[in-house]
Amino acid sequence: MRTVFSYLLPYKVAAGVAFILMLLELAVELLQPLLLAKIIDDGIMQEDLATVLTWGAVMVGLSLLAFGAGVLNSFYAGHAGQSTGFDLRNAMFRKIQRSSLGNLQPFATSSLMTRLTNDVTQIQNTIFMGLRIMARAPLLVVGGSIMALVVNWRLALFLLITVPLLVFFLLWVLKKGVHIFGKVQQNVDEVNHVVRENLTGLRLIRVFVRERFEIGRFVDKSGTLMKNTRSAFRLMELTMPVLLFLMNASILAVLWFGSISVQEGGAEIGEVVAIVNYATRITSALGVFAMIIMVFSRARASALRIEEVLLGTDDELVGSQGLPAEKTISGDLAFADVSFSYEEKTAPVLEHISFQAKRGETIAVIGETGAGKSSLFQLIPKLYTPTSGVIRMDGVNIQDTNVQTLRKQIGYVPQAVRLFSGTIRENIAWGVPEASDAAVEEAARTAQIHGMIEALPEGYATLVGQQGVNLSGGQKQRISIARALLRNPKVLLLDDSTSALDTKTEGRFLSALETYSCTTLIVTQKLSTALRADSILLLEHGKMVGMGSHEELLATSPLYKKLYESQYGKEA
Ligand code: GTP
Ligand code: MG
Repeated sequence: MRTVFSYLLPYKVAAGVAFILMLLELAVELLQPLLLAKIIDDGIMQEDLATVLTWGAVMVGLSLLAFGAGVLNSFYAGHAGQSTGFDLRNAMFRKIQRSSLGNLQPFATSSLMTRLTNDVTQIQNTIFMGLRIMARAPLLVVGGSIMALVVNWRLALFLLITVPLLVFFLLWVLKKGVHIFGKVQQNVDEVNHVVRENLTGLRLIRVFVRERFEIGRFVDKSGTLMKNTRSAFRLMELTMPVLLFLMNASILAVLWFGSISVQEGGAEIGEVVAIVNYATRITSALGVFAMIIMVFSRARASALRIEEVLLGTDDELVGSQGLPAEKTISGDLAFADVSFSYEEKTAPVLEHISFQAKRGETIAVIGETGAGKSSLFQLIPKLYTPTSGVIRMDGVNIQDTNVQTLRKQIGYVPQAVRLFSGTIRENIAWGVPEASDAAVEEAARTAQIHGMIEALPEGYATLVGQQGVNLSGGQKQRISIARALLRNPKVLLLDDSTSALDTKTEGRFLSALETYSCTTLIVTQKLSTALRADSILLLEHGKMVGMGSHEELLATSPLYKKLYESQYGKEA
């Protein structure tokens, strides 16, 4: 809770002003019964109209003051709440941007989304309500009790016997509330998860006729959310009648003993009225308690979830501080006995990988699906850190290099192509927004996509993504190759990026690539591509089972021989 609420500190002035205004409102509220008692005892009972009018006017004036304070309070409370929420969202987003992927691994995407939106909203509301009404309720209970004691302590005691009972009861509700609302937020996560998965897989769902299953899955999660939210509200609904019952019982006691006291001369009628008035105000304040508990338990659950992101993730860039920020690499890449697993206790995905790629060389990485090719690639731009072993760039351990400097010189075309909404040009120039048109075209030419883009009615200005044209898998692949090339990388990582290209286009691409002086690692299923590389790295179940030229591998590796025969036929 503390970390989250420390984000309120910059707005302490607004929060403070709101709090003071709230105290003003409270003071007026606490004075009202006193004034009422005065009007009854000194005015009505004495049949003195002037007193009634004077104090009546004071009451109206104070009410207006309280009204003004209330409006201003809303303004400042809103400002404090919204600004804190804004800062929290930004802080979390920044954390996510800068955290290493390994550290983000435990968070599901949908959960991060809920944390960034719904959970922050809970905190925002809590701050607003806290400054607007929540802090007032306990103060009203305490202040009201004190005022009642001042008016007539004997009668007020009947009111106060119930307080310890109420405190115990409310603490019990609070404990249960935090637990249930923690579950509710988790259920929100789960609903979001289903929605996200569903919306990103619409086509697949239609073709596999899984709509009914999907609806069932959604209704199931949504139902759990409803069930838990309902039981949370039930708890709150239970609170209210219990509070009312206790308070009404004590009001009855006040009235009963009050009437006896008035007869015996121990109390004035106005005093009894005032105390009953305090009692009803306290009761309504206690009613707010139920809501406070609800909001507070929910906020607590949300704060914990936000703190998991704020405190549970690291900052990649901090680790790179003090390292030379700008240094061109030449592209000499070496793996030395590198092993890697995604999570601590799981089996390694890569084991004892050692190889070298000299500047300008092309290495083809081949291996069955799941062999660890993509994982190997992700280690190079430090998306993940090897569990053991060293990766060197120009002879320097990449763990000791500035991560952004390193990444700026790596061109990475991931296996799953991703374009962003915007024009084709923006997508190609995504890593180098200041690139000239000529450079963009040049990259597109090399990626063998220039002609196709030119053929579009709007050329490079064609919109892609949700509002734009739908490009084919191969077209997207080539745009993302162009995107990587435009950065003039020293190391180029092509993760199965030519899978959708026909052999002829692919050949033209590989030839065009030769003009770029970068070290290239290319994952491919096609031996025709591998044959053009300087050497071939063969992976199997995370282990390196061969490295060398085609002839060397053919002679030494049975697996490679099998692969070769399967693609080229036995007679080859
Ligand atoms: P293909 O792309 O299918 O040819 O496979 P690949 O050789 O690129 O395999 P990849 O490196 O993607 O996966 C190697 C192993 O790592 C597999 O057993 C995957 O299950 C596992 N793996 C891949 N990505 C992740 C990840 O993000 N988290 C975890 N925990 N495991 C992963
Ligand atoms: Mg892969």
